[in-house]
Amino acid sequence: MSYEFAWLDYKNKVASGAGEYLKNLSLIGFDDAEEFQKNILFSATKEIDTAALTINEKKPEVLSNNESCDEGITLIFDDNNGLEKDGYTISIKNKAVQIKASNACGILYGVFRALTLIRTGEISKTKEITEAPASPIRMLDHWDNPDGSIERGYSGKSFFFKNNHLFADERTVEYARLVSSIGINSVAINNVNVNDTATGLINGYDRKELAEIAKIFNIYGIKLYISLNFASPLSLGITDTADPLDERVSRFWKKTADDLYKDIPNLGGFLVKADSEGRPGPFSYNRTHADGANMLARALAPHGGTLIWRCFVYNCCQDWRDRSVDRARACYDNFIGLDGQFDDNVILQIKNGPMDFQVREPVSPLFGGLKKTNMIVEFQIAQEYTGQQKDVCYLIPMFKEVLDFKTYNGFEKDTVLDMVTKASSSGKCGIAAVSNTGDDPNWTGHDLAGANLYGFGRLAFCPELSAEEIAKEWSELTFGCVEEVSESVEKILMMSWPAYEKYTSPLGIGWMISPGHHYGPDVEGYEFDRWGTYHRSDRNGLGVERGKNGTNLTEQYNEPIRSLYDNIETCPDELALFFHRLNYDHKLKSGKTVIEHIYDSHFEGVEDVEKMIDIWKSLKGKIDDVRFERVSKRFEGQLANAREWRDRINTYYYRHSGVPDRYGRTIY
Ligand code: GCU
Repeated sequence: MSYEFAWLDYKNKVASGAGEYLKNLSLIGFDDAEEFQKNILFSATKEIDTAALTINEKKPEVLSNNESCDEGITLIFDDNNGLEKDGYTISIKNKAVQIKASNACGILYGVFRALTLIRTGEISKTKEITEAPASPIRMLDHWDNPDGSIERGYSGKSFFFKNNHLFADERTVEYARLVSSIGINSVAINNVNVNDTATGLINGYDRKELAEIAKIFNIYGIKLYISLNFASPLSLGITDTADPLDERVSRFWKKTADDLYKDIPNLGGFLVKADSEGRPGPFSYNRTHADGANMLARALAPHGGTLIWRCFVYNCCQDWRDRSVDRARACYDNFIGLDGQFDDNVILQIKNGPMDFQVREPVSPLFGGLKKTNMIVEFQIAQEYTGQQKDVCYLIPMFKEVLDFKTYNGFEKDTVLDMVTKASSSGKCGIAAVSNTGDDPNWTGHDLAGANLYGFGRLAFCPELSAEEIAKEWSELTFGCVEEVSESVEKILMMSWPAYEKYTSPLGIGWMISPGHHYGPDVEGYEFDRWGTYHRSDRNGLGVERGKNGTNLTEQYNEPIRSLYDNIETCPDELALFFHRLNYDHKLKSGKTVIEHIYDSHFEGVEDVEKMIDIWKSLKGKIDDVRFERVSKRFEGQLANAREWRDRINTYYYRHSGVPDRYGRTIY
């Protein structure tokens, strides 16, 4: 399928005078680079050529005197200039732009950054910037299956797999270019639920293609990761056990890693989902997750590889009648006792919340609990529970709230961001997201979902950016540098998460989605099921009590958060029903009762969608018709969806509570 260039389309309107910065190109120190670095440097200069060819209709003149140019871009590669790895300094004097870095990736990121400044016109307000990525691992996790389907994929089929085989083509290069432009440096290409075919990927299946993809990634500074099946040696029929402490098993993994690194010398490592939702893991052998992770990590260690181990471990076969088990506790309960037991090259990947990528959840308490363990925070830009790229839902404000969350773990720097960036004690950490891409021409299904992909990368690289800044920058690059357009797009994006929350999930309750596919409302869809996701609504109220008189989830948080959440008087309204069971007439801090909040927020949510549609309509003729129509169509669907949510939730709670709406609005 053909593809578009998203925010890297240089045909989009650029700020006036942009082309003048692209007239000449001077390369200094490039001859000293090693072969591996040279490939990345080539990607950087090729990018400047591409931009100049589109904007100026000709490539820049390459100056050969090894001196900085007065009009154009000078790239200075010098591994002795004291700049941080992957960082850069961009200095601007009139029309001369100088980009310095101490490694090739730094030059590549510096070039992408400078091109953004040039296209948006920000360059004329900038003298010098020095930046380096905040987080060492900036990762996209693809949930792509060998048959080409994508688990929770909402933008077409996989562009890595087709007919049970991996493949690499032009789009693979385009993908690497796209995500490297936002600083992504790690990519897992296959689903964490590893099926039989994908199990073979570590063991020679499609090795040629795997190596080819890794090579393409490498020239854009990206390391390839493979999701693996913990029981591989057993599933492949090589051993009769997958016990991590069995010597035959560790021998299998050592040989597997040795072979892989022969063919893919720069492999990042493995990503593992174990003992989770039916996936095999160390629990089957009465071993701990530290036993399992360390065994795999030791196979990777001689090659400098990293083992990423997911903490999404809970009992998915719960009895809904049993009120003593609380899924929200599981992640912390399963891992807190293992703090300090993991090898240096193991990183635990923790979902942002204790449940599962809901539209509103508290931050996972594990971030404030672990003190001696490497961590990656896992977000989901695939909008599984947030509108599935049919509804617009800009997630960057949510991610920022999570990163800014103060854990009170006793460290001087104690936010989630501190745990997953260079501030962390080990420096082995990162920020990951389940990818929202597929082979749709625009990569993300909904055009506006591109802001989540773009924003995620920018945030992992530069977390001090505000959600608004990212939205504006993305819009300028994607729809062209037109003030009215970027202002309107920014407005829509910033309204979208609150709107989605309003018409779906009141006060942090979550999970009222249709079972299986998770789009659209079904209030009791998961109520009598095995997944541990209940709201237990009755005629008096709703919610699971998770304070100290209930499941005591709150004990997993450090003070003062523990007490803050424990006490309904201090618990923030947006999490009131996540932490507490409340009656319909309970008065929230907003002054409204729970039932009033439910009714009001659902009416408001629909009104917000109508407002977003009006703003979008005002852009007709200001952006190209194809994308205008594509987004308009999605908005029609979103409005219908929002109405369905409003009417079903309001009706359900009206019938349960018997409380009429105080404004007499229509409830069925
Ligand atoms: C969610 C999602 C699954 C996925 C799982 C995971 O539960 O619905 O499809 O496999 O998360 O993160 O592993």
